[in-house]
Amino acid sequence: MRAGFAGVLMCGVALPPATLTGMAHDLDDYCTAHQPRFVEELIELLRIPSISADPAHAADVRRSAEHLAARAREAGLTGVEVVETDGHPAVYGERMVSESLPTVLVYGHHDVQPVDPLDAWVSPPFSPEVRDGRLYARGAVDDKGQVYMHLKAVEAHLRTRGELPVNVRMLIEGEEEVGSAHFESLVSTLADRLVADVAVISDTGIFARGVPSLTVGLRGLTGVEVEVRGPSLDLHSGVFGGAVQNPVEALARMLASLKDPESGRVLVPGFYDDVVEPTETERAGYASLPFSEEGFRRDAGGIPETVGEEGWTVLERRWVRPTLEINGIWGGYQGPGSKTIIPAHAGAKISCRLVPAQRPALIAEAVATALRAATPRGVVAEVTVKHGGNPVVTPADHPAVTAASRAMGAVFGKEPVIIREGGSIPPVEVFQRVLGIQSVLVGVGLPDDHIHAPNEKFDMDHYAMGVRVLARLWDEIAEEMG
Ligand code: BES
Ligand code: ZN
Repeated sequence: MRAGFAGVLMCGVALPPATLTGMAHDLDDYCTAHQPRFVEELIELLRIPSISADPAHAADVRRSAEHLAARAREAGLTGVEVVETDGHPAVYGERMVSESLPTVLVYGHHDVQPVDPLDAWVSPPFSPEVRDGRLYARGAVDDKGQVYMHLKAVEAHLRTRGELPVNVRMLIEGEEEVGSAHFESLVSTLADRLVADVAVISDTGIFARGVPSLTVGLRGLTGVEVEVRGPSLDLHSGVFGGAVQNPVEALARMLASLKDPESGRVLVPGFYDDVVEPTETERAGYASLPFSEEGFRRDAGGIPETVGEEGWTVLERRWVRPTLEINGIWGGYQGPGSKTIIPAHAGAKISCRLVPAQRPALIAEAVATALRAATPRGVVAEVTVKHGGNPVVTPADHPAVTAASRAMGAVFGKEPVIIREGGSIPPVEVFQRVLGIQSVLVGVGLPDDHIHAPNEKFDMDHYAMGVRVLARLWDEIAEEMG
């Protein structure tokens, strides 16, 4: 008996393993015929402003969970439930076909990032619009669109063949964009329903248009918030200036002390202590990828040149080196004209991307210590450490990676390359550490999709290909792991 199969709902009868590529045309035909509806349905989900970071949108995050749960039932999942956490709710559903088949755990998220600056959007973020074959909306590709690919892949199998070739469990969380703070407790609540042979996650992108890829590494994340306080009220800069420490200036010095502008290295003591460097083979692999510096600068919003840590390439700086970034800074007068004050306080949000084997709590503490040590006389700094996620590397030789490679190769007409990504999906490491499950990252986003930015979009040809990749993947996993 396969691990964890006892006591689960069985539905339907397992089909014999598909003969794969030859058989996939039925799925492809179904997907092609129904693609316009797939787009319309995704648009309905994207209308819900499920911004997890904003407490004012808590009811919308719940609404998006409920909407997704209803669509999951329609697609053919059973045991579908909106699962409560101490934060935003998740959605669980499954289709357990036979204990003789491999079990796949699909993970994704239905929450989205905030939308500011609103005036930079061509069409409003929650009024989805298709222009030139691209669907523009917050969450279009990160991650509602890619979650929806999974529902439609299940639907395609059930409507064409009557049953899935694997057991599928789906867990779609509502707090990924705010650090998955309740994810570990969610996983223990659902432990008996999360037993699986592998996790499949579509919350990443491919290397470049026309260069399909599978991701086998993600950076971790940690952060701090610093508040610098001086006088208890804003002061006249003429009356008091010269004799009072300025909190904005103090903060600027503190932040500047964290990084060496010449070498690009983070100066926080201990920051690099636990970093595992990539092997020469990995470095050679990255160097052989068709990376275009010019294309990257364009995707990065037209920057004049790239910068970063000395001795590492652009890809290495983004994938295998840790970083420290200032995400936001505030303080003082920012209205029209001038206001001659010494502001009472100033603040900043800082985050660090981490690589194996850095630990979020240790790095956050090291940054906090460095900030406290750099605080000039005459002001007080309060540093708050924020929740983080661990970096993760997944095995490139896992049978599910082989299966995904074949599925993607068949749909994109080209073998995928193996890459890492600089973004973070903390649940991947939780699955590895807590459940002992490896993940395969099969995302189809593009580097210019503007995730977390105004005008986020999902190319609808990639959406269509994504559904087909995932539909084929279930056949390939049945073959490879059955
Ligand atoms: N989908 C992204 C992660 C991602 C982006 C992976 C691009 C690979 C390439 C995910 O939704 C995300 O944005 N995660 C957050 C996690 C954080 C809040 C803990 C991130 O990376 O900032
Ligand atoms: Zn995101």
